Amino acid sequence: MRFGFRSSLIAGLILIGSGCGPQPLSYNDPRQPAEKRIDDLIARLTLEEKISLLHANTKFTVAGVPRLGIPPLHLSDGPHGVREEIDPNDWRAAGRTDDYATWMPSLEHLAATWNPQLGESYGRVIGQEAAVRGKNIILSPGMNIQRTPLGGRNFEFFGEDPYLAARMAVADVRGIQAQGVASCIKHFAANNQEQDRGTVDVEMDERTLREIYLPAFRAAVQEGGALAVMGAYNKLRGTYCCENDYLLNTILKGEWGFTGLVMTDWGAAHDTMQSALHGLDLEMGTNKPFDQYYFARPLLLAVQRGELPVSLIDDKVRRHLRLMMALHMLDAGRTPPAGAINTPDHQATSRRVAEEGIVLLKNDGDLLPLDAGKLKTIVVIGENAVRKLAHAGGSAQIKALYEITPLQGILDRVGDRVNVSFSMGYKEPRSSRTMNARAPEDLIPRAVAAAKQADAVIIVAGLNHEDNFDSEGSDRKSLALPYHQDELIAAVTKANPKTVVVLISGGAITMDAWLGQTPAVVQAFYPGMETGHALAAVLFGDVNPSGKLPCTFPKKLNDSPAHALDAYPGKNLKEPYTEGLLVGYRWFDAKNIEPLFPFGYGLSYTHFDYGNLKLTPGTGDSLVTVECDITNSGKRDGEEVAEVYVSQRHPRLPRPPKELKGFAKILVRAGETGTARIPLNTASFSYYDPDSKSWVMEHDTFDVLVGASSRDIRLSAAFDPYQGR
Ligand code: BGC
Repeated sequence: MRFGFRSSLIAGLILIGSGCGPQPLSYNDPRQPAEKRIDDLIARLTLEEKISLLHANTKFTVAGVPRLGIPPLHLSDGPHGVREEIDPNDWRAAGRTDDYATWMPSLEHLAATWNPQLGESYGRVIGQEAAVRGKNIILSPGMNIQRTPLGGRNFEFFGEDPYLAARMAVADVRGIQAQGVASCIKHFAANNQEQDRGTVDVEMDERTLREIYLPAFRAAVQEGGALAVMGAYNKLRGTYCCENDYLLNTILKGEWGFTGLVMTDWGAAHDTMQSALHGLDLEMGTNKPFDQYYFARPLLLAVQRGELPVSLIDDKVRRHLRLMMALHMLDAGRTPPAGAINTPDHQATSRRVAEEGIVLLKNDGDLLPLDAGKLKTIVVIGENAVRKLAHAGGSAQIKALYEITPLQGILDRVGDRVNVSFSMGYKEPRSSRTMNARAPEDLIPRAVAAAKQADAVIIVAGLNHEDNFDSEGSDRKSLALPYHQDELIAAVTKANPKTVVVLISGGAITMDAWLGQTPAVVQAFYPGMETGHALAAVLFGDVNPSGKLPCTFPKKLNDSPAHALDAYPGKNLKEPYTEGLLVGYRWFDAKNIEPLFPFGYGLSYTHFDYGNLKLTPGTGDSLVTVECDITNSGKRDGEEVAEVYVSQRHPRLPRPPKELKGFAKILVRAGETGTARIPLNTASFSYYDPDSKSWVMEHDTFDVLVGASSRDIRLSAAFDPYQGR
């Protein structure tokens, strides 16, 4: 028995049917209502035992109460797989052999699939592997909005748009929790940068909070049913998020009716009284001594001194026990969920997400897909073709069961008939990881010489998970490629015009030095353990790319809002989000700035024509269904994402020019026509009115825009949501 609490459960069950007087409720009887079982349990707990449920007792566990059969809670990162076991005394790996896991593509890559069904499959993998490893809570998904392309953890989140982030978050949470494991959504809220994340004080107006930074959290709680929420490190409006009454009590627990558990990010508590009164339920952290945590002895003393009521503690304990009830952890005779780990099915899911999230940015002269039958030699260039990336980047790192590098994937796909060679081209120098560091060897001339001899060249470039790139704890310092990769790509493309550039990165890269000359560019956002196979499948045409960017690629850093307004990374640790609602494409649209590649953009090997837009009155929750035909006029089957944006003509308060409110990804066979159907509801037309503190849908005309990207609107129709009502 995993938790060793069966004997205590038997003690509890004896109370049922003892025959004398009214039968006491038994907290471990699953036939009783959960809240009554919790009442019963709370009545049996001593104050010390209650307090022990409110703080960590090791880095990733909370003690149970063996006397009453309450098992310990086991938590683990993270978003892209179940993290390896960590030594309880420091951050080193525990050195076990049973903690290899499926490494899923990064959440940003998942967002690039625009396929919530895949999001649910993704969550299922994480949940099943967590179950096998005995984890009760998985610290995932992260859903902070990408406010700046420099954000060190952008790769861990769902991009810049609140609607897309919400759809993917709900799917992921559902997938995880269907496996009997709780999802802890993070980081609540406004943890949009790594620089100064522990101290920065974020300021923003109410509409921006409600319309941009909170919707994914709200959806994950209300639609996804997330059982736990992690408070962020930073401050919001002068108060740390883990003691922020407005965020935790007023919005999360009050308005959204969240009945689950609010925990800190690791070491994010700052004060016993402030946290206890303002909505925190569980303090997690890294360093010993755990019994001195704000929510350990100091909390006990505060209650004993009468400074805090026991009822407040009981509510926190209740939330902890509710989560356990939801996972059936307190049911007599419970068998923990079996789960599954490292199965072919998990690996196939990882590959599918990897394939669907790859975005084709440029394909002049249809260089791609490469025809393996016609090529004799291919040279693969670049450190990212051979570099393993799973085990780095911070808390999202994974001890992957295996990792197929791009070079390996290409060899597996065409190595039997094409002569594939490798040239390093660039690499991170051992001596320095700074942007302009250069490896001592003469890598560029060698790569150029190899490229000249080859029928085609594949450069695998980009970033990695070292500090100052895509990594927890620091942001990127610029949008440029490090280690002289621009020089490499320009020189190689010049030497061989049949050059494809694959970028592996958590976001936008500037490409001025070579984009004009390089015919084909593919973007991948850390595609997980099947990276090489997925890339090869796209490059050689087994898979028709269908990913679309979940974030804007600006031409230069100062085109993006926070940088244009000098509103990042804050001054004296204060950071007003002066761009307000104009995050990502909302800003580029409002200011009429041409991006390098727009939000929602991605090419295919076929061509899709849009037509026959129809708005049909909806039923139930839906106000209207947007319907349009998508014809595949090319020669290959393909999947297309139809994106629906809404634009209000005369809003009382200023609104962004257009906002994503729906999308559908459909498969259309070559030469055929499919129909995309996208329902819109009241929320699709509403904005947050800070005066009435509510969402309002005004009497106005709205334009419903259907596009292949945010800058490629193919169809539009006017709509009055009140007409006929
Ligand atoms: C990160 C969280 C993570 C936690 C536990 C923190 O540093 O911000 O995302 O879940 O550590 O590893």
